Amino acid sequence: MANEKVFVTRRRVPEAIARLEQHFDVEVWDERTPPPKSVVVEKAGQCQGILSEIDDAIDADVFATTTTLKVLANRAVGMDNVDVAAATRAGIAVSNTPGVLAESCADFAVGLMLCLARNITSSNHSVRNGDWTRFDQMPYLGTDVHGATLGIVGLGGIGTAVARRARGFNMRVLYTSRSPKPEQERSLGVEWRPDLDSLLEESDFVSLHMPLTEETRHLIGAPQLSRMKPTAFLINASRGPTVDTEALYEALQSGTIAGAALDVTDPEPIRADHPLVSMPNVLITPHISSASLATFTNMGLMAADNIVCALTGRPMPSCVNPEVLE
Ligand code: DGY
Repeated sequence: MANEKVFVTRRRVPEAIARLEQHFDVEVWDERTPPPKSVVVEKAGQCQGILSEIDDAIDADVFATTTTLKVLANRAVGMDNVDVAAATRAGIAVSNTPGVLAESCADFAVGLMLCLARNITSSNHSVRNGDWTRFDQMPYLGTDVHGATLGIVGLGGIGTAVARRARGFNMRVLYTSRSPKPEQERSLGVEWRPDLDSLLEESDFVSLHMPLTEETRHLIGAPQLSRMKPTAFLINASRGPTVDTEALYEALQSGTIAGAALDVTDPEPIRADHPLVSMPNVLITPHISSASLATFTNMGLMAADNIVCALTGRPMPSCVNPEVLE
């Protein structure tokens, strides 16, 4: 019997490709940019598995006509680039990579908070520009992170890992999520706020860690930003469209809030000449919160394992639509 075929949409994690090659005929898209949709649809019609990335738009067309595809493994925890409902209708299993990236993403979110509040990156730019000509701290006076109140929106794996780090900074941590999380309240001392407005009003730092869904698109817009303290900072390492970019720009420009650190933007990538990019109170990084070498690799291996398990009849590590397996 011919080997099953797997299409990998980028040559990013060699270890994952090698793992797949132990079991299947593997074809890899060798460009740095995503394969055109026509290619993904064609491969879906020829392969049993696809390993995709978050910059692949895997919409209903990919699942509509295939009679071969059994599994799509997205190398990400966020699934907003995949039409999971369409995959489910077509009986195709879809997986993500929860857990393995939580600690790296949390390290990064805390790093953004520190860099923004204490002017770490901006002062480094000044030194590079030759502006350090005498001892003068005045242009760099920042805001203390220790002892401040952190509001976490979305206390899932990454939000919880951020809360754990915040304890080390002696921060008071508030959170919103659909329901209270008594276990995290007991172990981390975090406090639930049933409504987003109370969290925004009380927090010195607001850090977003929810998935992008129709419910969370533009969750942070002008009305929400106006609830925040003028001294408060917004950190976004979730997905760009959870924040209304135009409203954020206005809020930063008018002093409604003090600053923002964004690992994700809308649009993404953001143009270098976008007005947000050069604002002194804004720090933008190119969607790299999960990108330590180890985590990048482990996410690839988890995606590969999802494909291997799905195609060899073993339980998938992280299927998001398990009903198709029943
Ligand atoms: C994820 O996994 O959703 C991250 O945003 C990608 O690094």
